[in-house]
Formats: sequence, C-alpha cells, structure tokens
Amino acid sequence: MADSAIDVRHGSSDLSQKLRALQSLNTRLMCMDIDNLSYQDLVDGVAKVVGCDACALYLHDRTRDELVLEGAAGYEVDERDRRLQLDDASRIHCQVFREEYMVYIPTRDDATGNASFDNRLDSNLVFPIIANQGPVGVFGFGSYVAGAFGPEDVDLCAMLVDQMAYSLENMRLLRELSRSRDAVIRGMALLAESRDKNIGGHLDRICASAKLLAGWLMDRPEYPEITHGFIETIARAAALHDIGKVGIPDRVLLKADKLNEAEFEVMKTHTVIGADLLENLMSAHGSYTMIKMGAEIARAHHEWWDGTGYPLALERNQIPLPARIVAVADVYDALTSKRVYKSAWEHDEAVDSLRAGSGKQFDPALVAIFLSHQDDLQDIRLQYPD
Ligand code: C2E
Ligand code: SIN
Ligand code: SIN
Ligand code: FE
Repeated sequence: MADSAIDVRHGSSDLSQKLRALQSLNTRLMCMDIDNLSYQDLVDGVAKVVGCDACALYLHDRTRDELVLEGAAGYEVDERDRRLQLDDASRIHCQVFREEYMVYIPTRDDATGNASFDNRLDSNLVFPIIANQGPVGVFGFGSYVAGAFGPEDVDLCAMLVDQMAYSLENMRLLRELSRSRDAVIRGMALLAESRDKNIGGHLDRICASAKLLAGWLMDRPEYPEITHGFIETIARAAALHDIGKVGIPDRVLLKADKLNEAEFEVMKTHTVIGADLLENLMSAHGSYTMIKMGAEIARAHHEWWDGTGYPLALERNQIPLPARIVAVADVYDALTSKRVYKSAWEHDEAVDSLRAGSGKQFDPALVAIFLSHQDDLQDIRLQYPD
C-alpha cells in the first residue's frame, strides 16, 4: 500500500531528492527574516518538500485558548477552519494538541470510528509542534489519496515538524528580543531628547527624512552599501543620534542663551557619550545592526565635510555615510524647529543655509538630493508635527 502511494504523490520516492529538499527548507528557515516572517511561506515550503495535497499550520493563541490557522496550502480554507476551539471534538487537530501525540489516519475508512472527522481528505497525518515550554501548535498533512503516507513519509514529516518547532521557537524569541531592544533604545532616545526639545515629532521627522534620503541614493552606483536593509536600519538608528545628551548637564543643555566656549566644549561631548553608551551596550549584549549604526551616527553626526567638525575632525568619506545623511536631516530639522536658544526658521531660510553649507558642513551629494526633493522633506513636518 505504502509503496504505490509514495509513487502517486511524489512521482519518485528518491530519498536523496527529499533530503535535498529538506535541506533547502532548513536553510530557508534559518535565514528567515524575523521582521518579515511569513508562516505561509513556511507552509508552502513544507508542502513542496513533502509533496502532499494539503498542509496546515495552527498555532496556539494563549489568550483565547484556540488554535489559529497561520498558513494553509493545497485546499480551500473555510471560515470555520480559521479558529478552532480546543475542545472541538470534530477536529483531529485539537485532539493532537491536547494529547501532544501524533495522529496518523492512513485512509478515511480507518477513521469511520471518528464520524465527525474532516472528510475532505482521504489520509491525514497531524503532529503536535512541541517547543521548550510545551505544545505551541499543530501541523497537518493531508492527501486526497487513501493510504498516501507510508512509513518513510511519516518519518520525513516528523523530522520536518521537529525542525519547525525549533525554528518557530527561535523566531519567537528573536522577535521578542528585537522588539524589546527597539523599545528600550527608543525609550532612551526619547528620554535624552525630552529635556531640550518639543519631542513631539522630532525623532520621527529625523528618522523619516533619513530614510527618504537613503532611499533616493539607493539606485546610484556610488552607494553600493545602501540596500533595503540599510534603509530600514537607518530609519530606526537615526533616532539615536543625540542619545548622548543624557550626559549633558541641564545648565548647558537647557541654557536659554548662546553657549560660551567652555559650555560648547561640554555640549560637544554628547557625540562621544552617545557612541560609547551604544558600544558598551553592544559589548555587553552582542552586536546588533541597528545599535552599531546608531553608534556611528551618534559619534559622527557633527563632523563636517571639510574636516572642521567634532569630535574627531573627520572629513569627506571618512565620515560614515549614515552620519552624513543624519547630519543633513538633523540640521534641517533643528533650523525649522524652535529650541530653548532659538526660534524656528522658515523652510526657505533653512534650505538656503543647507545650500550654503554644501561642501563645507555637508556632503554636497546629499545637499543636492535634499534640494531636488525638498517638497517631500518639507511634508514630513506635516506628518509628524510637534
Ligand atoms: P540642536 O539644537 O539639535 O542642533 C543641531 C545642529 O543644528 C547644530 O549643531 C547646528 O549644526 C544646527 N543648528 C541649530 N541651530 C542653528 C542656528 O541657529 N544656526 C545655524 N547655523 N545652525 C544651527 P551644533 O551647532 O553642533 O550644536 C549641537 C547642539 O548643541 C545643539 O543641538 C544644541 O543642543 C546645542 N547648542 C548649540 N548652540 C547652542 C546655543 O547657542 N545655546 C544652547 N542652549 N544650546 C546650543
Ligand atoms: C485540513 O485538513 O484542514 C488540511 C490538512 C490538515 O491539516 O490535515
Ligand atoms: C555639525 O553641525 O557640526 C554637522 C551637522 C550637524 O549638526 O548634524
Ligand atoms: Fe547632535
């Protein structure tokens, strides 16, 4: 029974071919981007490896104590398939989840004892997905052919589900970690900014304009380092540029007047304080693309293109690109905002000042990009007002 069934479903029972498919699925699981995680991709990948007619991934929703369909392949999903009450006796999936035990129904005839079993499919194989802390969901394989799953297939499916349990758990942990790190970092940035600014939209505006500027540069051959990943990273890391202001005393930071020379020397240290803080965070908790770029930006966003900025007097391409981008975004926003020491400038005045600083304070290529898209950049303030 099993041998002919394998031929029907796979066209070939070549084990090494299946192992290769399994390997490639594994690689995909490992490389899955936690921010763009798609359970549906996972299910499609599994369906392809196993070559069965139908696959379904259900994960347990703890708050409602239900199984939720996260991905399905090969059959038409019915509204009543989407959420399963755990005590629903008509669904084999619920039994598998509760009892943490695989159920194998070789042919529908064998299941007649279970009269209410979903009868769209002729053979079914449903596994619990068991992570460290217990069952997290179930994965079902189905076929329209009776007796479709031979012992070899049961082993392959069991292996896949084990691998999936491991990957799902890793993804969950990584996502939680990345979310909480983002939240902590953003909280710190807000705290730093809140002392001297109307924080309303300041961070959001800097992030949005840095993201746009990077996006406009992406297709140019001179900027091979700008990828979609770079753009997503700078869109968050830009918020960290002034995080070092946490270390600047109120009498300097909140002075309503012009800073004297000594006070400005103190103020300049916000670059180094911020970069060191982020670098220490990384040495304690492992490198993290966003924090790494944040540290670069914090350290170098007051460097000038002509080498007269601070803290290191770097010039031109010695200044990391993310910092050059944020420098333009930061100064435009600072000029058009009210500060304790200055009133807000009009857009045109700010643009004149950027133009005058091109090749002196700012990377001329970035000023040019800024000028050719000024309307979009000006609109950012409407989106994120103070
Ligand atoms: P910030 O207020 O966020 O300003 C960021 C940058 O925007 C400044 O970097 C400067 O390049 C530009 N900018 C801001 N306002 C003006 C302006 O009125 N004219 C011109 N030409 N550029 C402006 P900078 O100068 O390195 O200052 C870094 C930080 O030091 C400022 O951040 C602010 O927190 C503080 N700061 C600078 N000057 C004064 C001041 O006269 N009084 C006080 N209380 N703080 C100041
Ligand atoms: C289904 O029966 O709903 C799809 C395949 C399975 O989960 O067994
Ligand atoms: C500088 O002001 O020194 C460089 C540009 C900036 O303010 O970010
Ligand atoms: Fe700054």
